Amino acid sequence: MNKTVYKNLFKPLKLNELRLKNRITMAPLFLGYALEGGKVSALMLYHYKLMAQGGAALIVVENASITPAGSGSTRTLRCDHNRYLPDLEKLAATIKDQKARAALQINHAGRFAHVVEPVAPSAVDTFGRTPRELTRREIVSIQKQFANAALRAKKAGFDLVELHGGTGYLLAQFVSPRTNQRIDDYGGSLENRLRFPLEILKRVKDTVGDFPVGYRFLADEWLPDGLGPQESVVLARELEENGITYISAMGGTYESFFLPEVIKKSSKPGYMVSLAAAVKKHVSVPVIAAGRISTPARAESILKAKKADLIGLARVLWVDPQWPQKARRGQERAITKCSPKCDACLQLVMKGKPAYCPRWSKEKRQAYRSLFR
Ligand SMILES: Cc1cc2nc3c(=O)[nH]c(=O)nc-3n(C[C@H](O)[C@H](O)[C@H](O)COP(=O)(O)O)c2cc1C
Repeated sequence: MNKTVYKNLFKPLKLNELRLKNRITMAPLFLGYALEGGKVSALMLYHYKLMAQGGAALIVVENASITPAGSGSTRTLRCDHNRYLPDLEKLAATIKDQKARAALQINHAGRFAHVVEPVAPSAVDTFGRTPRELTRREIVSIQKQFANAALRAKKAGFDLVELHGGTGYLLAQFVSPRTNQRIDDYGGSLENRLRFPLEILKRVKDTVGDFPVGYRFLADEWLPDGLGPQESVVLARELEENGITYISAMGGTYESFFLPEVIKKSSKPGYMVSLAAAVKKHVSVPVIAAGRISTPARAESILKAKKADLIGLARVLWVDPQWPQKARRGQERAITKCSPKCDACLQLVMKGKPAYCPRWSKEKRQAYRSLFR
């Protein structure tokens, strides 16, 4: 094995009993590669094999729906029924065959679901549509769906499951003072707004037993009247108290991603590291930092400064799956970088099209395209 100058980056870490061979993780990245209806496709298997081959310790598979009613698009992965199990097994095995740990992110998109009647904690306008407020009975039923989906991830052979509390999806909608205007004990005070994700965590843990559960964590909505770190760190502490395995910090929601100041902020290297650092001050479980961590030197300095315990690469790894190997071998100049001026992948997936990266070679684009169904 080559000696590396990035000593912190290539130091192993344990997530409960699970050994990670280094500090590099793939942050979840939805690219529209599942089949219409949400089944795992040949393209997905090819894509995740590439992602795992490069040497990252942990691959967190993009958000998978716990119910069709909470699906973000017709090409969002599904894990809401046992009929998806055989394909999910193939996906987990594809990643693990490459000696990476595999996690599945599970999600309910709430008011952002691509359905006729989206549901949410409260009937708050969502780009001109108003979701229906969830009843208490529905709340319990969604919690059960999370638990069942987590159990499916375990049965399919994933090493971990990640609850999607980011991007302004349902879990985050309950925590946010903007989108949760309920007057029952799921709304109002911070304690009440945290109830829904914490009850889900409890139910998931009771169902999966001794199985690691991570959390994609919305630290800041980046909206004037939205959730900010002052409140979100309270959730971080509660998650730790209730047995979360790691916290993967992020900022922004669909309502802030396209604001000029957020576009500007998120074009900067390491733009979400300060959020991870803020969370890390309050918990002792491992914290993942993501957001344009393009160079191994930056990743190393984040770990060295103890701003995070793990590095999350999403587009950064997708553009160049060999990033970890190149970092280890000291070939950082050979890394293909995601351009901060480009948002082609996001634009494509938002139009319901499979994403490709303009930085890829013609051959690579053709290889992806030839597998798209
Ligand atoms: C096209 C696209 C899809 C994404 N899909 C997910 C997702 O399914 N789940 C999630 O938690 N975050 C998702 N993210 C956020 C990424 O995990 C990550 O936090 C963000 O892209 C910053 O990291 P990067 O600069 O390495 O891409 C997505 C981001 C983009 C651009």
